[in-house]
Amino acid sequence: MNLDKDNLKVTVIGLGKIGLTIASVIAEKGIKVYGVDKNPHVVEQVNKGICHIKGEPGLEELVKENQIAQVLTCTINTKEAVSNSNVVIVIVPVLITSDNQVDYQYIDEAVNQIGQSIKKDTLVIFETTLPTGDTRNRFGSSIEKLSGLKMGTEFYLAYSPERVYSNRIIKNLKDYPKVVGGVNEKSKDLAVSFYRRALKCEVIEMSSTEAAEFAKVAESVYRDVNIALANELSVYANQKGVNILEIIKASNSQPFSHIHNPGIGVGGHCIPIYPYFFLNNGLSTDGLVHKAREINDSMAVYSVNLIEKEVGKLDSLNILILGLSFRENVKEHTKSITLLLNEILNEKNANVVVNDPYYSPAEVEDMDLKYISLQDHLVCDMDIVILQANHSEYNNLDLSMLKNCKVFLDGRNAFNRNEVEVQGIKYIGIGAT
Ligand SMILES: NC(=O)c1ccc[n+]([C@@H]2O[C@H](COP(=O)([O-])OP(=O)(O)OC[C@H]3O[C@@H](n4cnc5c(N)ncnc54)[C@H](O)[C@@H]3O)[C@@H](O)[C@H]2O)c1
Repeated sequence: MNLDKDNLKVTVIGLGKIGLTIASVIAEKGIKVYGVDKNPHVVEQVNKGICHIKGEPGLEELVKENQIAQVLTCTINTKEAVSNSNVVIVIVPVLITSDNQVDYQYIDEAVNQIGQSIKKDTLVIFETTLPTGDTRNRFGSSIEKLSGLKMGTEFYLAYSPERVYSNRIIKNLKDYPKVVGGVNEKSKDLAVSFYRRALKCEVIEMSSTEAAEFAKVAESVYRDVNIALANELSVYANQKGVNILEIIKASNSQPFSHIHNPGIGVGGHCIPIYPYFFLNNGLSTDGLVHKAREINDSMAVYSVNLIEKEVGKLDSLNILILGLSFRENVKEHTKSITLLLNEILNEKNANVVVNDPYYSPAEVEDMDLKYISLQDHLVCDMDIVILQANHSEYNNLDLSMLKNCKVFLDGRNAFNRNEVEVQGIKYIGIGAT
């Protein structure tokens, strides 16, 4: 297989936050890229040089430049793109269902199309985070069956996880080593050469697709467990009347201590999801990973209990939640703790309203949440404020607007206690009360 720049034709399936960025970064090298998305609006926008993903530094410019240079062409027709390519990258989501089972609906659909259209000698690379073994056993086998081509000799198969962080994807694609494993040596070697050429990044060669898949989930599990430790310590610090932030700073001054930050819970489509890729595939549910999930999921209830300790019953109280996104400065609400808080507080008959500068009132209300804008005459009736996502827009929040507020629960330990308490509002942090 010839991986020269002029010979390369790459299909990227899934033009979301990650897929559009990777497609754009590869196209920028002058490589011909077909972007595929099932959403015709996304395809139409990108073909016009318009970037539908906001807040990724450099991406809007890149999409525009690639459109002008005619190096990135988008389509909803997966089969056509795949049959015209010699490299296919799959980066569509794998999530979990409400009962924490792995949800393959999007990726199975993409694999089905690949299997029906792949040419001999094509290299297929999965980048979506996956349970260990899926690249080979679920998707490779399926492509073999549908195409009649043999994995590893008639088509090549590799796995290379996306390890990037929203808001920094282009930078991370350059800075982070790409972890790459193949179903055999030839598949790995081809994928390694491809990434060296297409991303010009450092590559870590793994012994198998399974090792590469495992490494990505292990990273996320590490963070979930570490946050759970910080949360458990923060609850205990609260009992002992010491400030967890002061403690973490001191502890982490020792080079072997890396305690993460405690908080009101862990949201997003990575950290709270990927532990189930292990837990539903044989990892003991009596162990640390499962316990960490329980601890992190319990932080919202714990935080509400802290508020109740101060004000008593929440029945009929007005509660403002700041931030619908799962974390600061992104527009993403998969498994956002705000959704969980809204449920808990509604059960207690509180009147819950949500503000988020990244979402329009209609978008918030479509999720069965009540939207509020931060204007004096609207927020002056709030009894309680909970900071869930610390968007930079909240850095200059005028606390004097909160005329009736009794408690400010700082779920991210981001505010200055004195600046809150000078307004006559009780400040509660997580482990920093
Ligand atoms: N977002 C992150 O911060 C992040 C970080 C690291 C890794 N990842 C990995 O990247 C994956 C994708 O994340 P994202 O943020 O880009 O998702 P996203 O939700 O922003 O985008 C997914 C895109 O895939 C399209 N799609 C879904 N099924 C399709 C199909 N069968 N054929 C064609 N298009 C299809 C959707 O229309 C959508 O545009 C995640 O599941 C995860 O494994 C994400």
